[in-house]
Amino acid sequence: MPKLVPAFTTDLGAVYKTDCLNLLAAIKDHSVDCVFADPPFNLAKDYGNGSDKDDLGSSEYLIWCYSWIDQCIRLIKPGGAFFIYDLPQWACHLAVHLQQKQMTFRHWIAVSMKGTFPRGKKLYPAHYALLYFTKGGPKTFNRDQVRLPVPKCRHCGKDIKDYGGHRKFLNPLGLNLTDFWDDTAPARHRKFKARWHVNELKPMIPSRCIELSTMPGDVIVDPFAGGGSTFEAAQLLGRQWIGSEIVDCDLIRDRFKRNLPDVSLTKPLALSQLLKEPNPELRIDTQRCPISLRNNHTMEQQNLFRDLASTNY
Ligand SMILES: C[S@@+](CC[C@H](N)C(=O)[O-])C[C@H]1O[C@@H](n2cnc3c(N)ncnc32)[C@H](O)[C@@H]1O
Repeated sequence: MPKLVPAFTTDLGAVYKTDCLNLLAAIKDHSVDCVFADPPFNLAKDYGNGSDKDDLGSSEYLIWCYSWIDQCIRLIKPGGAFFIYDLPQWACHLAVHLQQKQMTFRHWIAVSMKGTFPRGKKLYPAHYALLYFTKGGPKTFNRDQVRLPVPKCRHCGKDIKDYGGHRKFLNPLGLNLTDFWDDTAPARHRKFKARWHVNELKPMIPSRCIELSTMPGDVIVDPFAGGGSTFEAAQLLGRQWIGSEIVDCDLIRDRFKRNLPDVSLTKPLALSQLLKEPNPELRIDTQRCPISLRNNHTMEQQNLFRDLASTNY
């Protein structure tokens, strides 16, 4: 059976050039602390992976999402966190699925979407959905690590709000983070992106999720690595990381070279313990999990397709 080594490693992390289902299938149950997933949004983008274009039918896209979501749930530790960043039109279904799988809803975080335009007879889309679920109650919730500075007037430097005379009771570390994030533009400007045609996130988004829900040394999984923003955030925060990218990982290597030139590019030996077949080279099987073959569905999936197809999305 063919085995795959990581395409890029540091002392804390490893990324594989493969379908995420190959990587997820190789990881032990209840072994990771946090999953951050920013999947393709099914907007017919060409990610450069040939036949697997990002333009599935609605029900097919959801079935595909459920396949990697179920794998992620399997490998999250009790109390671990699961973040999924997607369009509200998909996130509402993914949230129901997570709840059906006994995951605990924490938040639907609205991440402000800028520079869009209304399409057809629809409202102006102004946010992306960032789902935050945990497996049971959260084992880590570092509220103080993600507090926001008290907003000040740019001109006079004074507080913008008067806090109803309760200013002195504000936490000196800052304001509580809310479930509405408008201080972070989701897609980085083309000029600064490692790979301009991929929706690369500003590292602040995964960074906040990681700081909020994990401790240094914990393990973060990102199945859809893209330009590697999750890995950069995890590395800077001293967390271990592992992930997959179906197209190529050169841009992740370039990102680390550019932004974190002093990072040690050794093998993260501790990650071997995550694998079902631990080995020092961190090799994994590349035999695709059957459910990822999009045109090869089981009877149960076909029935689910039919049910979903009868619903208008
Ligand atoms: C929205 S982008 C993720 C961007 C990433 N969060 C970042 O900030 O750079 C989705 C990525 O998933 C990758 N992808 C699509 N299908 C995949 C699959 N089955 N397994 C692994 N990666 C996949 C695409 O090539 C693309 O780079």
